[in-house]
Amino acid sequence: MSLPAFLAALDELAQAAAAAFAAADDAASLEAARVEFLGAKSGRLKSVQQGLGSVDGADRPAAGKRFNEVKQQIQAAFQEAQERAGAGRAGVVRDRDFDPTVPGRPFRLGRLHPITQTIEELKDIMGRLGFTVALGPEIEDEWHNFEALNIPADHPARDPLENFYLASAQAALGAPVALGAPAGGGAPAAVGGAPLLLRSQTSTVQVRVMESREPPVRIISLGRVYRPDTADATHYPMFHQMEGLLVDRRVTMADLKSVLRLFAASYLGADVHIRFRPSFFPFTEPSVEVDMSWKDRWIEFGGAGMVDPNVLRAVGYDPEVYTGFAFGLGVERLCMRRHSITDIRELYKNDVRFLGQF
Ligand code: DAH
Repeated sequence: MSLPAFLAALDELAQAAAAAFAAADDAASLEAARVEFLGAKSGRLKSVQQGLGSVDGADRPAAGKRFNEVKQQIQAAFQEAQERAGAGRAGVVRDRDFDPTVPGRPFRLGRLHPITQTIEELKDIMGRLGFTVALGPEIEDEWHNFEALNIPADHPARDPLENFYLASAQAALGAPVALGAPAGGGAPAAVGGAPLLLRSQTSTVQVRVMESREPPVRIISLGRVYRPDTADATHYPMFHQMEGLLVDRRVTMADLKSVLRLFAASYLGADVHIRFRPSFFPFTEPSVEVDMSWKDRWIEFGGAGMVDPNVLRAVGYDPEVYTGFAFGLGVERLCMRRHSITDIRELYKNDVRFLGQF
């Protein structure tokens, strides 16, 4: 065979193989092309190779060089086609299989817990009334939870059975029950530091804020509080409060009522009524219970009052110069009233069918 004839046969083979591998778009056609061109016994590459022996001896090196080039090209084309087919199997959508009219799978979007939504809305309303958000720790000492709030050592609210004291604090004391009523009314006789408890009210944050800055103060604080109550439709051992505090010169009870009325109208609607009932809290004087009526039902939402001079003194404010009001409202109650939820436990069962409604 002459060199030109051999080279022409090689070229033709190279073109045919390239076309066959490019067209192979599934495993069967790829295998057929492999056998046709690269088959070990009777593949076309093999039969062209057999012609190499009949090329003139002088031309054989050139013919062999070209043969090797074409062989590599064909093998590369095969490999590429194989990778393409493999990728298709691994899930890459090939144009032919893509149907743009098939509806997509909807994402299941999570949503905010109704209490989180309520807290965001309360912050928003109170923000418009000029109150900024203050934060405080959920683990508290007795000074901030009781003492500075004018709750003396022998007050029933400090009973260990009414609070979640922390076990490590008990261990530090060495005696499990001597926590609430330390002798002498001063700092508890703690061995390894003051007893700690989960805060039972957000009023703690009033103290922390006033300790850290001078009046005027106009803050709210929203967060969890803890009490060892048995869970029922209206009680849960953890719930949320919104605490409010405004201290300045010449603040009066009328300001308190105006702010709470504006708040209630924004949260529940213009058709809300608000009512104060005389009450007692150690940290306010006078003190009131705050009721709201919306759609003809009165509900107690929390307590409020004028900050007791003892509290102002405890944080270093002069009660002759400054007065203030404070309030603490139950966030769950506000949320439940708005959405007509009748059992607080529903909020904490984590049933997405319930939570997904809000
Ligand atoms: N801390 C009170 C409670 O948990 C609620 C409260 C009453 C907060 C009167 C106040 C207040 O700031 O002035 O029951």
